[in-house]
Amino acid sequence: MTMLELERTKSITNYQSLISRPRRLRATPALRAMIRETELNPRDFIYPLFVRHGTGRTAIDSMPGVYQLSVEEAVREAEAAMRSGVNAVILFGIPAHKDPVGLENFADDGIVQQAIRAIKKEIPEMVVVTDVCLCEYTDHGHCGILNTGEHFHAGLPEGYVLNDPTLDVLAKVAVSHAECGADIVAPSGMMDGMVAAIRAGLDEAGYENTPILSYAVKYASSFYGPFRDAAEGAPKFGDRKSHQMDPANVREALREAALDVEEGADMLMVKPALAYLDVIRVVKDAFPELPMAAYNVSGEYAMIKAAAANGWVDEAKVTLETLTAIKRAGADVIITYHAVDAAKWLK
Ligand code: PBG
Repeated sequence: MTMLELERTKSITNYQSLISRPRRLRATPALRAMIRETELNPRDFIYPLFVRHGTGRTAIDSMPGVYQLSVEEAVREAEAAMRSGVNAVILFGIPAHKDPVGLENFADDGIVQQAIRAIKKEIPEMVVVTDVCLCEYTDHGHCGILNTGEHFHAGLPEGYVLNDPTLDVLAKVAVSHAECGADIVAPSGMMDGMVAAIRAGLDEAGYENTPILSYAVKYASSFYGPFRDAAEGAPKFGDRKSHQMDPANVREALREAALDVEEGADMLMVKPALAYLDVIRVVKDAFPELPMAAYNVSGEYAMIKAAAANGWVDEAKVTLETLTAIKRAGADVIITYHAVDAAKWLK
């Protein structure tokens, strides 16, 4: 604009007085810090650990920086997390043997049972959350008892995941985790009534103080791909669409969340996180009184890792931006494989 044109604008209207200036509060780092609405804290994070039998640790190709850990290595990893300021872990087990029911899932010397005891012994202040599902333990890789053989139920497809027979197993698993000292149990199988069944099982066994973090709103997502390598829990046939939700739905999320609240869930979860920020917001607004978790899943982690390895994005900045967005959307707690790195970057 020439000086003359500028003069003309000014004479038409005093435009300066009409401008709103949000930039005033962005001028310096101190001002920006003062008006920041969302603050990440390492205490918001839950760090997933994959535990297996044997010794040492095994890298997972599709999840750089994540390992299958022996019990001893899991304790070491939990200690490192605690030093970084992360004080919660969620455990996933890779059993020695798989069978149609997944017996190791509730065995006293099961891999997760051993890991809970070891972590609680060495780091009593660590919050130990356990994933409660069947898929890592069953030989067919499904999240429940299948409609086949002695359980066959006419009118349902062969191989369908049966709901109520699965509930009994889930309750047993949750009680066995509580017996070992788990602080929170987190059912992830999307069976109808799973929270009620687990609550009843825990109460009956004297664990009325063990909270349930329900994977209330879990989608049938392709973002779980790398996890299924890590946990060796991919279905041997079919998919999980008869129990996990259709990514196209959000009204249904409210129904799922409401049922779990009614059944006694202490915390709710939306999973995955990034492609479902709108769902996190809607569920948080509908149930503001409950702490909300979001699961920043394996595929979300793998995408950042792959892009960063190519030098296409700045790993630390993109990760912290992502986690901030999940919290801004309404999550109080984030389950994330980035937990320990993010805690270090926040310092
Ligand atoms: C089921 C479970 C899954 C994940 C967490 N719990 C896999 C599935 O539902 O297929 C996925 C987590 C991730 O992708 O990081 N036990």
